Amino acid sequence: MRRLNVALAERSYPILIGGGLLSRADEILAHLRIPRIALVSNTTVAPLYLEVLAAGLEKVGVGVTPIILPDGEVHKTWESLNLIYDALLAARCDRGTTVVALGGGVIGDLAGFAAATYQRGVPFIQIPTTLLSQVDSSVGGKTGINHPRGKNMVGAFWQPKLVLADTDTLRTLPDRELSAGMAEVIKYGLIRDLPFLGWLEANMDGLMARDGELLAHAIERSCANKAEVVAADEFETAKDGGRALLNLGHTFGHAIETGMGYGAWLHGEAVAAGTLMAAELSQRLGWLAPADVERIRALLLRAGLPLSAPDLGAARYLELMSHDKKVIAGSLRLILLRSLGDAVTTADVPQEKIVAAIAACCRG
Ligand code: NAD
Ligand code: GLY
Repeated sequence: MRRLNVALAERSYPILIGGGLLSRADEILAHLRIPRIALVSNTTVAPLYLEVLAAGLEKVGVGVTPIILPDGEVHKTWESLNLIYDALLAARCDRGTTVVALGGGVIGDLAGFAAATYQRGVPFIQIPTTLLSQVDSSVGGKTGINHPRGKNMVGAFWQPKLVLADTDTLRTLPDRELSAGMAEVIKYGLIRDLPFLGWLEANMDGLMARDGELLAHAIERSCANKAEVVAADEFETAKDGGRALLNLGHTFGHAIETGMGYGAWLHGEAVAAGTLMAAELSQRLGWLAPADVERIRALLLRAGLPLSAPDLGAARYLELMSHDKKVIAGSLRLILLRSLGDAVTTADVPQEKIVAAIAACCRG
């Protein structure tokens, strides 16, 4: 088992990564305030993994209230959040109850927001079961739901007490979801870890073949990068750089997700296409060489990710991007690459260059 720490003073917590961790009820019990949990999952993940997790916990005396939500990005809504509140109240869960998320990023974001707000906040544990959630969404405390006008527009920062990533769960993940998670893995190499980018280029075929050791290494390295960034800028308030850099490709990507209708493009797929748009724009600013952009394109292709964005029209992209959470005083801030392994935040990009980059990356 690999163990990392997210260093946030009194709110620090461990990330455990390895096979067979769903059976480690002892690790979970050690982080409970009282032996009672509400276990939030969905109709896809619960049949696969809820029983083994709940049985182990019940064996060590933990009371488990399962809460099973419909599956899908389209359900990351107030309605699902209310289902969680209803179930917590029906089961008379009190402030000692820990909300546990068992699933991908949608379940983690929903359950985390419920934990942040139920009775003004109860403890929370993340048990991520997709590659994307194991390398990104379960770490760092961002929780929330979508609004029809924008992704993740309503939410809270609420750190978990523990992240437990059982790499065995990745065996049942559909190929398309594995690819989507790989977009966020590649992101860490691009924004701050050039040696990791090289390692990914050397090992992408093995990763896509689900080699357990390679996947565990990629998850550990991704989480180590994320933990460092979050520890330095937990609430994404740094003026330049900081946590916002984790959003490489996301301003374009969120526009794709919202513009196409939630669930049509997977989050990771939209991030991949958005990353190429950011790379294209970085090249137009003279920061990346054409060969750098080609390197990114080749790696995303080997990870099975889409390279072209949907043609929503530049005006629609700009309108959707104007709702981005990085907009301050009406000014859009983009995450771009000054070079491979070195991302920057910039508000200083001429609109015509953004429009040209969008046009160059859209299919159709
Ligand atoms: P997801 O949660 O929708 O999961 C993808 C699909 O895989 C779902 O159908 C799910 O039921 C299924 N699934 C999950 N685990 C499985 C398993 N082991 N075997 C088989 N099927 C399994 O999608 P995701 O990619 O995990 O997460 C995307 C979400 O995460 C988006 O809403 C995005 O906004 C959010 N996100 C949040 C953060 C954050 O910091 N909070 C960061 C990145 C992304
Ligand atoms: N996924 C971006 C962040 O956690 O900040």
